[in-house]
Amino acid sequence: MKTTQPKTLGEFIIEHQASFPYSTGELSRLINAIRLAAKVVNHHVNKAGLSAILGNAGAENIHGETQQKLDVLANELFIQTLTNREIVCGIASEEEDTFISINSKQNDYQNKYVVLFDPLDGSSNIDVNVSVGTIFSVYRRKTPLGSPVTLEDFLQPGSAQVAAGYIIYGTSTMLVYTTGDGVNGFTLNPAIGTFYLSHPNMKFPDNPRIYSINEGNYNYFPDGVKKYIKYCQQPEEGQPYTSRYIGSLVSDFHRNLIKGGIFLYPQTAAAPKGKLRLLYECNPMAFLAIQAGGSATNGAQNILDIEPKALHERTPFYCGNTIMVNKVKQMLLYKD
Ligand code: AHG
Ligand code: MN
Ligand code: MN
Ligand code: MN
Repeated sequence: MKTTQPKTLGEFIIEHQASFPYSTGELSRLINAIRLAAKVVNHHVNKAGLSAILGNAGAENIHGETQQKLDVLANELFIQTLTNREIVCGIASEEEDTFISINSKQNDYQNKYVVLFDPLDGSSNIDVNVSVGTIFSVYRRKTPLGSPVTLEDFLQPGSAQVAAGYIIYGTSTMLVYTTGDGVNGFTLNPAIGTFYLSHPNMKFPDNPRIYSINEGNYNYFPDGVKKYIKYCQQPEEGQPYTSRYIGSLVSDFHRNLIKGGIFLYPQTAAAPKGKLRLLYECNPMAFLAIQAGGSATNGAQNILDIEPKALHERTPFYCGNTIMVNKVKQMLLYKD
């Protein structure tokens, strides 16, 4: 049997650092810290059933959701890992009410990146042993070096992201990320704790056939979305499409990226901006989607063009193969 020796994530990061103009290595060190945090969270997620960290933590986050113990733990582990390494100047998280400013002892506010993240995505799936994930998004700060970060550093449109990615704690654990030069996926070999490049230059395949939406909310969807669902179900050539919905954005997105498809989370009358968070969930996934040849919209505007007004704001989200996103967009805009 022919054995190949794929590149490790560490090797990949070093190789690619050279391609950033004027690179100081700061972004590389940041991706390295995320890689480390991913391994620590992976360790805990993997043994969740054994270590009394299943179930809810007995508190609500700012979104009105009951926090799971693993939401809280993953949040702490990521913040700790990034803070201890003095690698970013600020952090914002789905599980924190407001942003955190980090004063680096070594170089008094000289770090230039802020990270925004969803520490545990799909947390309602933890207790039933279904894949969950972590999502991250990186920006260059807007305010000058040498001062604490302000809200302005976090409220940037997704088009300003310098890196974004996710970790999927699935049948295998993968880290998938982009720095604006394509999307690459790395699989963890748990025996030696190393990520290897397993999915280079990921692209949505042609002829997508999967639609992912929580159809239980059908009656509350906008007419355009109802119409699109019916379109997906039509017995025409190449259709009906296959319906697949896990309920973890990371897992649904990852499957669609590999197999071809669209993820939809529309607004409803009760939730006029939908459920998903622009800064922690939609922007990073939109950046990845575009880098993989796909698209992401809120129905009226490209996700990456939205000017955020608040840290925890939500947006309707339609993301995946461009041909499918364009179709639903067309149906959403058309009023009969
Ligand atoms: P989180 O666990 O980070 O709060 O995110 C949950 C999100 C997302 O992962 C998923 O796509 C969506 O909620 C599922 O929502 P429904 O249960 O309403 O379908
Ligand atoms: Mn949540
Ligand atoms: Mn989430
Ligand atoms: Mn979450």
